[in-house]
Amino acid sequence: MLVLRHCHRLTRFGPLSPQRPQASSAGAWCSLRLVSSSNNNDSKEQRWEHPGHAPNLRLAFAGLLAGTGAVLAYGLHHHKAEQSDIVSAQLKAQPSQLPVFSQEEVTKHRTPKDGVWVTYKGGVYDITEFVAVHPGGDKILLAAGGALEPFWALYAVHNQEHVLAMLSEYKVGELRAEDQKKQQSAASSDPYSSDPERHPALRVNSLKPFNAEPPPELLSDSYVTPSAIFFKRNHLPVPRVDPASYELRVDGLPGGGLKLSLEDLKKRFPKHTVTATLQCAGNRRSEMNAVKQVKGLNWGISAISNATWAGARLRDVLLAAGYDADAAQWARHVQFEGLDKDVTGTTYGASIPVNKAIGEEGDVLLAYEMNGEPLPPDHGFPVRVVVPGTVGARNVKWLSKITVSAEESGSHWQQNDYKGFSPTTDWDTVDFKSAPAIQELPVQSAITVPADGAAVPRASEEVTVKGYAWSGGGREVVRVDVSLDGGKTWQVAELRSSDGGQSPEPSPPPGRAWAWKLWELTAPLPSEARQLEIVCKAVDNSYNMQPDTVAPIWNLRGVLSNAWHRVKVNIVDSDE
Ligand code: MTE
Repeated sequence: MLVLRHCHRLTRFGPLSPQRPQASSAGAWCSLRLVSSSNNNDSKEQRWEHPGHAPNLRLAFAGLLAGTGAVLAYGLHHHKAEQSDIVSAQLKAQPSQLPVFSQEEVTKHRTPKDGVWVTYKGGVYDITEFVAVHPGGDKILLAAGGALEPFWALYAVHNQEHVLAMLSEYKVGELRAEDQKKQQSAASSDPYSSDPERHPALRVNSLKPFNAEPPPELLSDSYVTPSAIFFKRNHLPVPRVDPASYELRVDGLPGGGLKLSLEDLKKRFPKHTVTATLQCAGNRRSEMNAVKQVKGLNWGISAISNATWAGARLRDVLLAAGYDADAAQWARHVQFEGLDKDVTGTTYGASIPVNKAIGEEGDVLLAYEMNGEPLPPDHGFPVRVVVPGTVGARNVKWLSKITVSAEESGSHWQQNDYKGFSPTTDWDTVDFKSAPAIQELPVQSAITVPADGAAVPRASEEVTVKGYAWSGGGREVVRVDVSLDGGKTWQVAELRSSDGGQSPEPSPPPGRAWAWKLWELTAPLPSEARQLEIVCKAVDNSYNMQPDTVAPIWNLRGVLSNAWHRVKVNIVDSDE
């Protein structure tokens, strides 16, 4: 059996480095260590830095400052929550015997040579070893010699018990009381304080950064999703942009590039309107989580919405910036950069293939309107890219820069996230370079009504099932099959592409079906049934179909979750 002991400083890193102050007693350097109750002398086997643990702790710690779910995810997968709870409880139980340091002393430790120290909630942490072994450790140097709190304010997701337990591994002392007070009064303001108000109907997956989805039954209420309840996916605080001084740069083409104000964008280029569905790569991730835990926000079925966007065509702007036959020889990608920044000043970024960007039929917009209004702050005011048929992640909000390039965006979100892997790939084996960035999404559908677990009165004699269906790359959904018996028998649902009840509804131009279809089926209740397992599956015009179960498409980041959607409902008699 494993028990926890305090005493790590002498065991975790071996002999103290010359930079570290010498403790007055071994006890003064004690922290955490895993030991075996049956053989607690065999420290080699039992240390946290046992292969398979140490790299993960370190990678997790990188995530503390890098602020990206994926980086954090790298490290957390072996670190069971139960372990953290025990660790925290043990920590709280121990009165601190660690030395007290002044802020001045901490500030001297800002480089790997002098040792890298940080403070957090009155504790002093020596993370020199971490910085030395981790390739992304240099980001942590931004906090070196000072407090972690301003960084964690930006990435509230890391302020969790198990992350704190990991940090405790590096604790070397306490910060002098008067310096703690000074730090508190100088505490930075909340970077999310200027985030906009949000609609209370939204189901919040994370507050800071703000990520939320509408209740499914509202989603299928209107063909064009009202902006207030359109799903919101932010990696960082929402930047507040002054439209008068807003400037969009177009780089990478010979001739010095182009700079456009919001007015330029509106006046110099024709306004185009496109109704397009945006879907997050993590939509329906919760169903993957139900099979086996994945890393990422636990999205339900509503990280998808449909809006009417208006703005200049990216194609027109690229042509005005000098894109020509010569550029077509070398250009392969168009990169986008947002104005939202992390603590290192790194902005959100992504790219799309140049053919999609420049193609007349790509319909890529530099949108300044959503549903007939200026873009709301959460959706990218004043300008965002709308890349119809392409995963949400490439639809960069608060757009500041466009670069025509031979290379993909080097952004974390293009290179090390939003990629699909085999179910066998885990966080120890994943190589993000080995998989292409997600662009077009696969065919998708889900049931919005009734909800899982809902009661259907037998007296109603029939059940109405509603939902959405969509496919990436402009492929049109041509059929949605619905089953009331778990997939044994099927009925074909009615599809619609507007709220207007036009009949027959016009088909989108081939290859440009950017918007979802809402569907509905009303069917008699099977006479004897007490429970129904309702299932839906969509078919697009390339005859792509959804896989029937989640397990074969499970992947460690929980993206591309598009198996048949299933809900169970109970048929209730009026006296129940
Ligand atoms: N653009 C910027 N600048 N910052 C972001 O965090 N999130 C991306 C994309 N564009 C993001 C961004 C992701 S992952 C998605 S799914 C969509 O925006 C969500 O767009 P929405 O919030 O308008 O629904």
